[in-house]
Amino acid sequence: MKSHISIQDVNAFYGDHQALRNITVEIPQKQVTAIIGPSGCGKSTLLKCLNRLIDLTDGASVSGKIIVDGINVLNGSIDVTDVRRKMGLLPQKPNPLPMSIYDNIAYGPKLHGKPGKKEMDEIVEKYLKISGLWEEVKDRLKSPANKLSIGQQQRLCLARGLAVEPDIILCDEPTSALDPVSSQHIEQQLLKLKTNYTIVIVTHNIHQAMRLADYVIHLYLGELVEHGHANEVFENPKEERTRAYINGTFSIDLKIDSEANLKGKMCPFNFVYAKQALHNLEDGKILKIIVDDPTAVTEVPRGMEADGHKVLIVKEINKTDWEIVIQK
Ligand SMILES: Nc1ncnc2c1ncn2[C@@H]1O[C@H](COP(=O)(O)OP(=O)(O)OP(=O)(O)O)[C@@H](O)[C@H]1O
Ligand SMILES: [Mg+2]
Repeated sequence: MKSHISIQDVNAFYGDHQALRNITVEIPQKQVTAIIGPSGCGKSTLLKCLNRLIDLTDGASVSGKIIVDGINVLNGSIDVTDVRRKMGLLPQKPNPLPMSIYDNIAYGPKLHGKPGKKEMDEIVEKYLKISGLWEEVKDRLKSPANKLSIGQQQRLCLARGLAVEPDIILCDEPTSALDPVSSQHIEQQLLKLKTNYTIVIVTHNIHQAMRLADYVIHLYLGELVEHGHANEVFENPKEERTRAYINGTFSIDLKIDSEANLKGKMCPFNFVYAKQALHNLEDGKILKIIVDDPTAVTEVPRGMEADGHKVLIVKEINKTDWEIVIQK
């Protein structure tokens, strides 16, 4: 793995509030790195440090180093425009410029290199093709960009970002405002693009991260909990907090209505006891059971789901015990 972005001991503050704590991590070249973690853990902040968009927030301060191609982008004296050109940002909601489809793509190249008409036509076509939009818009390039569907607008924004020839694509939940089909479109484009670009994507959607990511960074409360190959992080996380997050939620937010300690009981009896405990609860209430029989860890959730209950969490608490949280 060749590193492209080296994040070294980065701390970020909004006033007194520390949003990132001692983040040190390498982002590999021409791979997709997904940043995952619960709301407020610092995902967007980390992305904004990379392209210095954080400079635009009043009261924000950042320390540490972020080295890209040998240059520390956090160094106050470097050219920020150049940093941002190198790193295209695809935001959560598409933000096309109030101009035609064609001009949206032409805008960046015009600022940077002033190509002629023919060359510009080629640029527009090239990037609309790369973003998978060309076939849908080639006959109406001069019509306003905001007439496009939201999914098409997002692909237009991708094309606009690519037209200034960045090396790195940053995406902050790029599909969260899109319908499933448009999301799939964007995901497909990102997968194709990783042969030529380093991609960093923030996503709330674990399934999306699983589909796209080669590497994963898990943040929690501003700290880096875990980082590694996507396969390893998803299939065999080193950290319990990562396992808990991947399993769907953090139990801290859940209100448990009833608990049953089934330690020492074997399958199928723990299944019977769990059923009894649920029987005493009203619909929608939440039961937590603790088991120490490894068979129960797969069999109980399976059986409960088959009975129409919702299994919220299955997690290892220590070497012998597991917690299973079920909603009736
Ligand atoms: N402009 C700001 N001023 C003050 N605090 C901020 C600002 N932006 C973010 N924060 C705080 O910094 C922390 C990290 O925020 P950030 O937006 O990076 O989280 P996030 O992981 O992207 O969350 P989400 O998943 O909800 O987008 C949060 O506690 C947030 O409230
Ligand atoms: Mg965010």
